[in-house]
Amino acid sequence: MIDIKKIRSDFPILSRKINGKDLVYFDNAATSQTPKQVIDVIVDYYTRLNSNIHRGVHKLSQEATDAYEKARVKIQKHFNVAKSCQIIFTAGTTESINLVASGYSKFLKSDDELIISALEHHSNIVPWQMLCEKTGAILKVIPMSLDGTLDMNTFYNLLSSKTKLVFVNHVSNALGTVNPIEDIIIKAHEYGAKVLVDGAQACPHIKPDLQALDVDFYVTSAHKLCGPTGVGMLYGKLELLKSLPPYQGGGEMISTVTFEKTTYADLPHKFEAGTPNIAGGIAFGAALDYMNSIGFDNIAEYENELLNYATNALKKIDGIKIYGEVKNKTAVISFNIKGIHPYDIGSILDQLGIAVRTGHHCAQPIMDFFAIPGTVRASFSFYNTFVEIDRFVEAVNKAATMLK
Ligand code: ALA
Repeated sequence: MIDIKKIRSDFPILSRKINGKDLVYFDNAATSQTPKQVIDVIVDYYTRLNSNIHRGVHKLSQEATDAYEKARVKIQKHFNVAKSCQIIFTAGTTESINLVASGYSKFLKSDDELIISALEHHSNIVPWQMLCEKTGAILKVIPMSLDGTLDMNTFYNLLSSKTKLVFVNHVSNALGTVNPIEDIIIKAHEYGAKVLVDGAQACPHIKPDLQALDVDFYVTSAHKLCGPTGVGMLYGKLELLKSLPPYQGGGEMISTVTFEKTTYADLPHKFEAGTPNIAGGIAFGAALDYMNSIGFDNIAEYENELLNYATNALKKIDGIKIYGEVKNKTAVISFNIKGIHPYDIGSILDQLGIAVRTGHHCAQPIMDFFAIPGTVRASFSFYNTFVEIDRFVEAVNKAATMLK
């Protein structure tokens, strides 16, 4: 059960006024809000622990290192990963994907094939295109259908012995579709291909078991799940992480350095050059603690109720079109109203204190598929309420009347 009153009191920002109105924050797919339990951890770090990790013999450095490594173990446990060294701290999902894409240039040759889905965010498209330019590998696309799901039969036909990698998001950021990653992983493995899953939009709603999934790489960002921006993770199977070359050179990632030859540190440090976002890593662990204290089953159940309530109410608005109406989706509604530009609706909602995202959502191929410039996207979290949805629907109605 969600204790909504208690939960909302954890998020100081939710009591802000925007344009004289109570804030309604429905841009959770862009970034989630941060509870005071996580803010306190960041303040505590800079108040009591601030120092560089893995380097000092002094007490502060040891305490900061302990806190950072404890956070890594929390992340390992949360995702049911065998060893903590398989969790690499990164700046976020985008950096995690770039790390893998950059390393794979060592293994690919011309005419190898990579498969991507039509539902990807630009961060899971562009790094692979750059890799293809470098190596001569070929990028193939799993097409999407009008309901916002992937055309799995075409995926099965795209797979061949040439397929080396498959990349797919667990949940589409633009539409909320939950992709059948279990099936994708099983089928890709039958051809010896490795699979990278972008979990940025899934992890706020679903607790994935990475060993059960048997996924090769899984990436996500802390700021989508009540943590700070600028920190995320890359999970990889041990042998794959060991075989990938380092992404960046510098301090921390070495074992020995001479001008003749450098040897690299063991995992996870091989991929963690430079001073990391220490407070961010520790707060990532605290964010998982916070979300687990509420419970992912409770979160999913409540958000689903919000989604159904909002979908039913929005559907009554004349001229509305919702994109991606599938059963298995997270609490995201992407829509347009006939004859009105999404930006104009977003601007009126902002005047009324309601934050949504408008535009292509860094997923231009999806917008091209629907032949639209963008959508209005409302994305809900477990700290949102039915009353907020009533205000939102009333505001969309008002915008539609004013702009028609
Ligand atoms: N990827 C984020 C979004 O979907 C920024 O809005």
